[in-house]
Amino acid sequence: MRSKFSSRLGYVLATAGSAVGLGNIWRFPYLSAKYGGGIFLLVYILLALTFGYTMIISETALGRIARKSPVGAFKHFRNSKLSLAGGWINAIIPMLIVPYYSVIGGWVCKYLFEYVTFNREKAALDGFFTSFISNPVSTEIWFLVFAIISLTIVFTGVRHGVEAVSKVMMPILVILAVVIAIFSMTRKGAADGIKYFLVPNLSNFSWMTVVAAMGQMFYSLSIAMGILITYGSYMHSDVDIEKSTFQVAAFDTGIAVLSGLMIIPAVFAFSGNDPAALKAGPSLMFISIPKIFAEMAGGNIIGIMFFILVFFAAMTSSIALLETAISTFEDELGWSRHKATIMMSLIMVVLGSVNSLGFSSLSFVKIFKMDILDFFDFTTNSIMMPIAAMATCLLVLKRVGTKEIEKEIMKSSSFAGKALYKFCIRFIAPIFILVILISSILNVLGIINL
Ligand code: PFF
Repeated sequence: MRSKFSSRLGYVLATAGSAVGLGNIWRFPYLSAKYGGGIFLLVYILLALTFGYTMIISETALGRIARKSPVGAFKHFRNSKLSLAGGWINAIIPMLIVPYYSVIGGWVCKYLFEYVTFNREKAALDGFFTSFISNPVSTEIWFLVFAIISLTIVFTGVRHGVEAVSKVMMPILVILAVVIAIFSMTRKGAADGIKYFLVPNLSNFSWMTVVAAMGQMFYSLSIAMGILITYGSYMHSDVDIEKSTFQVAAFDTGIAVLSGLMIIPAVFAFSGNDPAALKAGPSLMFISIPKIFAEMAGGNIIGIMFFILVFFAAMTSSIALLETAISTFEDELGWSRHKATIMMSLIMVVLGSVNSLGFSSLSFVKIFKMDILDFFDFTTNSIMMPIAAMATCLLVLKRVGTKEIEKEIMKSSSFAGKALYKFCIRFIAPIFILVILISSILNVLGIINL
């Protein structure tokens, strides 16, 4: 018999633990800064309420009906090659994300180390981050530190202990983030940043705003990577799917907005309105947060606490990604847990090292003008996840039927959003996915310029 979450709260906490991670704290603020600020936020929220909500509900219900992880679930509904491919693309995505996720996790460890050794001034220096990531040895070591910790946790099965700790950490993270955000927003020059982040300005809109917002939505809410199907398969039939998934999505979005409020006003306050600072990309958090801690009373201690909390948020997400990947090997290829973990360790070390060295020894490698890490991030989020989401939509529309999904959800909820759900899954989701997918491919091939 498949193990189940003991309660609704158990489901919400576990799902929120896997959803809240580097996606919220590191990825959301830099994409928002780069792709238009307030207009990005607006597009993100609209997408999350319509498209995102539809996908979350569909995946959870599919998982709960089939009681299997993605490949098994797709096979359960239709045993064809196409359906199998749909399951596999969902299952492969976590295997490709977790290596580069751990590279960023390594950066978090490095900063934690700097604060633990009371180096807050050094960490805030211009050029500190760049010199760190262009050093192949140190980036590789820190990546390995993070990767080995997560693999060990998964290997030794102490994952539940870590998740229990992270449940305590999460509320502390929220409180600390509020304190840091208030400090950041009250710096001189920060008001422009608050305005930029919160107030939509149409002149900052480009099609890339939509493409990036959609990729971010998948990433942050853990959609289109088999996770929610798996979590749904562990959910009791009497747990209210509608309410619990909404709570997870709202909490996840709240943390992302809070992170934006910590980081973006600080960028404005400390860069003297330099537009290039907003385009910093993946380095944004690592450059702007230390500047806050350098000015804040008790900044070193707060820095230690902040990076410990981010470390835990990243660790629970990385464990969830690893567990999904490992269970795919176990369930679909019949491998032992031992063999599956060794395989994932290999994938992790090889791909993670390539991603990490992409900023130093391998910096000459550019794929479609992107650094290696950016390339992996883009391919998984903007190409593979739309395909995986399309597979789920087609499964619901062509095979399972929206009626069946409704029936599953109504086992435990009045399904207030039923009409919206039906409209989105039939029209909004498939059309949107197709348009986004085609435009990101054409963009990367240089055929159009978004
Ligand atoms: N949603 C996570 C984040 O925002 O950091 C990323 C992620 C974690 C995706 C775990 C999938 C997953 F299983």
